[in-house]
Amino acid sequence: MDLKEIRENAKKACSKCYVCECCNGRACKGQIPGMGGKDSGESFMRNVEAFKKIKINMGVICENGPIDTDFKWFGHDMSMPIFIAPLAGIKNNYGADMSEYTYNLEAAKGAKLAKIMAFCGDGKDVDTLFVEPFKAMTSVDDRAIITMKPWTKEGVDLRLELIKDQSYACLAMDIDSAGLPLLRNSEIPVENKSVDSLRYIKEKINKPFIIKGIMNVEQAAKAVEAGCDAIVVSNHGGRVCDETLATIEVLPDIAKACQGKVKVLVDGGIRSGYDIFKCLALGADAVLIGRPMGLAIIGGKAEGVKAYVDKLRDELKSVMVMTGCHCLDDITADKVIILK
Ligand SMILES: Cc1cc2nc3c(=O)[nH]c(=O)nc-3n(C[C@H](O)[C@H](O)[C@H](O)COP(=O)(O)O)c2cc1C
Repeated sequence: MDLKEIRENAKKACSKCYVCECCNGRACKGQIPGMGGKDSGESFMRNVEAFKKIKINMGVICENGPIDTDFKWFGHDMSMPIFIAPLAGIKNNYGADMSEYTYNLEAAKGAKLAKIMAFCGDGKDVDTLFVEPFKAMTSVDDRAIITMKPWTKEGVDLRLELIKDQSYACLAMDIDSAGLPLLRNSEIPVENKSVDSLRYIKEKINKPFIIKGIMNVEQAAKAVEAGCDAIVVSNHGGRVCDETLATIEVLPDIAKACQGKVKVLVDGGIRSGYDIFKCLALGADAVLIGRPMGLAIIGGKAEGVKAYVDKLRDELKSVMVMTGCHCLDDITADKVIILK
């Protein structure tokens, strides 16, 4: 199955996502439910546009040799530094007739096929939006990254109990969901998390803990203080707050502050191997991809993930050749130029 076919399938399947040539938040701005960014949609659009201000610093006089994109994540081997981002509400947002179980099953199968890893999402209905996704993923292998929303203690404890005997790789919390109106007003609501309430979660699990939704150095320092093992520089794809900076704009300072303390992931607007290269050059260990990965799953199931990851690998490798990088560690800040 090629990418064109996957796109055509996705177009037929989605009634709310426009499956644009470039997924940049313009056509869908403000559409939530739907695929857009919140309110004016500026945060989503800026995530994508900001990559254009970063240019590749070509340099090809170097030793010739093979190009290696292998990556290790807490003992798990990966073929690329890419994660499938957590996406919940496939019917509501994409308008696709695919259950959360099937979506997450295909995501996990695709991750396995492409030798990457996948996060699963969470939502108000614990059975369909939390249990089914993690059950689907853990039925494939033990590499799932289970994600929970920043519920009050009652909701956190409920979910910790549900996953306590599961084989999974890491637990994540998207702390930036604290303001989502639907969840703020639910019976067990989400809340802003204190350092202590985050540390409480870390102490309850014997897995790496990832805090997703960090947008400045001060918040990164609090996440480190809470004892997390990794952060995701993320504004939730622009869906939780209008008028933020782009994630790639805030990444360099955060990555510098976190160096040697915790691993740093980033998401938001990453669409190509070029974008992945820019993220790694500016300090990220790896990236998450959201909306386009969802389309690959809806349009091509597990094979769709593989096809998309293959394309990203080809692009990343071609930039690595053109910048004299043989492995991911060679991708350093001097390999890109940030335009003023
Ligand atoms: C439809 C949709 C559902 C999402 N659901 C979740 C979720 O349940 N948990 C979470 O942490 N992030 C969720 N996100 C945010 C993504 O994980 C990710 O941060 C974002 O999509 C990255 O930006 P990109 O789509 O531009 O790649 C969701 C995003 C979208 C578009």
